[in-house]
Amino acid sequence: MEQLACFVKLLILICLISEAVQVDNVLKPVVVDSSASLPRPRIVGGLIAASGQFPYQVSVRVGGRHSCGGAILSQDYIITAAHCVIRLSWCNLKKFSSLPTYFVTVNAGSVNSSVDGVVAGVSEIIIHPDFSYTDSDIALLKLNVSLQFTDLIKPIALAGVSPPTGAYATISGWGRTREGGPLSELLMYNRYVRTLSNDDCARAIGYKSAGILCLAKSRGNGICGGDQGGPAVYNGVLIGIASYHKLACGTDEPDGYIRISTYRKWLIDVSTADSGVV
Ligand SMILES: *[C@@H]1O[C@H](CO)[C@@H](O)[C@H](O)[C@H]1NC(C)=O
Ligand SMILES: *[C@@H]1O[C@H](CO)[C@@H](O)[C@H](O)[C@H]1NC(C)=O
Repeated sequence: MEQLACFVKLLILICLISEAVQVDNVLKPVVVDSSASLPRPRIVGGLIAASGQFPYQVSVRVGGRHSCGGAILSQDYIITAAHCVIRLSWCNLKKFSSLPTYFVTVNAGSVNSSVDGVVAGVSEIIIHPDFSYTDSDIALLKLNVSLQFTDLIKPIALAGVSPPTGAYATISGWGRTREGGPLSELLMYNRYVRTLSNDDCARAIGYKSAGILCLAKSRGNGICGGDQGGPAVYNGVLIGIASYHKLACGTDEPDGYIRISTYRKWLIDVSTADSGVV
């Protein structure tokens, strides 16, 4: 019995790791992407970002390779998804630790992920204390050098309140442009994702959580592997951090984001704790 449980957990673990290191994930259900033949470039369904269009977006690299997106909170802190920067203990998925900081770097100020903008190291990885795979999937990366802000590198303000239901948000990232496809070398964005009400979100994901924001979309849009940790913005403020997509990407199921207004206080408290700013 225990061996079976361990085996199942191992399978899940392999899925999670392969997602994190961006190895093509053969264990995921294959869903035919009917929109794959459309000639448009995408995040899924996206457009190519211009240099400086998303100055708050960073690439979070693990072992020097793009792993996840992130958003600039301040000169010293990046917001990303917790699952991007943890490693799990074998056979107990409830136990995890953050990755060694020296594995993690951040590339800011470049829309082409093969081109280094400002590459900063990470001196501390702070996982939200309530993190689990279904909730509080948010982390702060403390940089080992302060970012100098330029036209290409700027912070984004945190939403103080939840966005209205039905609002169009903008998402961006270097993730796959279709299920099983390659990462995008250029930053992509998509404006056709809309906020769902909490009730519709709970129905879609199967449980209720005040900390999760669902962004609904039509088929052929949304986030894919490599976009996690990246920003969703509405009215110029950060409303969400990409956490997961249901099943394959590019389906008409909503994507799950961490709701920034719920975690705003934690983000501010942690990121200002050692600087004397309140
Ligand atoms: C990204 O930059 C690399 C290195 O300069 C270049 O070879 C590549 O063509 C660029 N990619 C795109 C899609 O422009
Ligand atoms: C910051 O981290 C990077 C990458 O790990 C490292 O190469 C660099 O030497 C570090 N810089 C400082 C000032 O610690």
